[in-house]
Amino acid sequence: MIRSHARRVGTDLKKKRYHPIATNFFRTLVNFSRRHHYLTDIAHKYKTFRAYNVLIDYVFTTDPANVEYILKTNFANYGRGWYHYSVLLDGLGDGIFAVDGEKWLHQRKISSNVLSTKIVKDFSTTVFKTNVVQIAGIISEAATCDKAIEIQARRDTMVSSLTWFIYMLYKHPHIEEKIVQEVREATNLKDSSSIYEVAASLTDDALDKMHYLHASLSETLRLHPAIPLAGPRNCIGKDFAYRQAKIVCAMLLRSYIFKLSDENKVAHYRTKITLHIDGGLYVQAFPRNLN
Ligand code: HEM
Repeated sequence: MIRSHARRVGTDLKKKRYHPIATNFFRTLVNFSRRHHYLTDIAHKYKTFRAYNVLIDYVFTTDPANVEYILKTNFANYGRGWYHYSVLLDGLGDGIFAVDGEKWLHQRKISSNVLSTKIVKDFSTTVFKTNVVQIAGIISEAATCDKAIEIQARRDTMVSSLTWFIYMLYKHPHIEEKIVQEVREATNLKDSSSIYEVAASLTDDALDKMHYLHASLSETLRLHPAIPLAGPRNCIGKDFAYRQAKIVCAMLLRSYIFKLSDENKVAHYRTKITLHIDGGLYVQAFPRNLN
């Protein structure tokens, strides 16, 4: 999606051609709760189209040639722009998500360097594990009292992605079985091991062996992307995110079986800045008997 003044670069002014206006503010509003489906339906008709809105005109494109041109060939010409910047400024300041050009490149280099240092990697792994042990305590308590838990407590990319993941596992139990088996083999622990022992067994080597879990997380992200991908502005926390997600899943799935409180629930997204499940996801946890 690109914000535009709908000008075609290099086009003779007299022969100026515009992409069709396929929707407007009111139609977008009426279809707001199913926005992504609505725009996908239009994209089946027009590969590139305009959405005419009151404050700003958007051009959407699904044409691979345009996508390559915008995200690769001429990326420098397609920044986030002033509108995006003005909306994010109060919350994010001159941070990496809001800025363009030199400022963006500078922050991207610094952040990538920081995130790839061993000290940050090791520290964050310890924090992830400690937090999952705490979460496991809360889940255990709820399981003892037969209480449902709402697992989408917040709306960030990680929480949304893991919530969709648990939902997808419930709908495809054979995948869950394979993941648990993989975790078992990679950690090589006794079935009676405590959550602390499971945490300690999740070394980098063990996590690297979990290809099936990695692929299942990727498939969840493909089907339910928390936020859209954006060429050279792709996620610099990707390795972090996978490590965190693998630690959470390995520790929790090895210890518990999660069932949806409403077994017939069909999850729908909520149209917000991230793609999270409308109404959250209530689950009940049962200790997993690995024998
Ligand atoms: C499941 C979790 C995550 C998902 C699905 C995700 C996904 C994404 C996506 C799709 C983008 C591109 C968005 C855009 O251009 O607007 C992005 C950007 C970014 N992500 Fe992540 N992310 C996750 C976790 C993380 C983590 C844990 C970190 C930090 C450690 C992180 C740091 C960043 C940064 C700094 C950017 C901006 C990159 C730039 O503009 O150059 N992300 N993320």
